[in-house]
Amino acid sequence: MIDIHFHCLPGIDDGPGNWDDAVALCKAAADEGTTTIVATPHVLREPWLNEDRAERDRLLVRLNALLGGKPAIVPGCEYFFAAEVLDLWDRGSEGPLVGLNRGSALLIEFPSYAVPINAEFLFHELSVMNVQVVIAHPERNGELAHNPERLEALCAKGAVTQITAGSLLGEFGRAALAAAEEFHRRGLVHTIASDAHSLSRRPPRMAAARRWVEKRWGSAKAIELFESNVEAVTRAGIVVP
Ligand SMILES: [Fe+2]
Repeated sequence: MIDIHFHCLPGIDDGPGNWDDAVALCKAAADEGTTTIVATPHVLREPWLNEDRAERDRLLVRLNALLGGKPAIVPGCEYFFAAEVLDLWDRGSEGPLVGLNRGSALLIEFPSYAVPINAEFLFHELSVMNVQVVIAHPERNGELAHNPERLEALCAKGAVTQITAGSLLGEFGRAALAAAEEFHRRGLVHTIASDAHSLSRRPPRMAAARRWVEKRWGSAKAIELFESNVEAVTRAGIVVP
């Protein structure tokens, strides 16, 4: 499996605080069948700005060396969405944004309870720039959970979603699980990832989530969510709908 949302670079956000914890977290993911992790530290989210790509890359190289390729860690980021996104993406490798596996799929997160009013417009502009937007954990966003039509509108602009493995297992409460089920009914679930942060607070749990999807939504859907669509976004292909 490829896990496209994972906080594994130590000491730069609310993920692991040191190398031992980072290595243990990644190894736990490997034990669950994850072969590749996209490192997605928070970027431009106070207090974790992490604008220095070179520093992020240094951490990633060292983590790969410590893990010996099991699992492999590839670059990415979780960008806290703002109106500057077009300019930031335009800066390419000079800027702070990195697509998943350095491709053209960008993982974005919204504030917990709202979606910026200009998101549809900006998503359209990003699609014109051939950026595949991946919306991180919409089931944990208050506005999207209560108003799935808004998520439909965003996906109509070319975005796809990433639902959190733990949400399906009830770890984020009943509202997040109910939202994920409603998104599924509307065809708005495109990928699953762990959003792992630590073994104690936010472990990976991808294997359990995959079993849940197979049982509830069927094995064909599990292959789509855990394999074909995540492979497509890490290759930067345009996924669905
Ligand atoms: Fe995250």
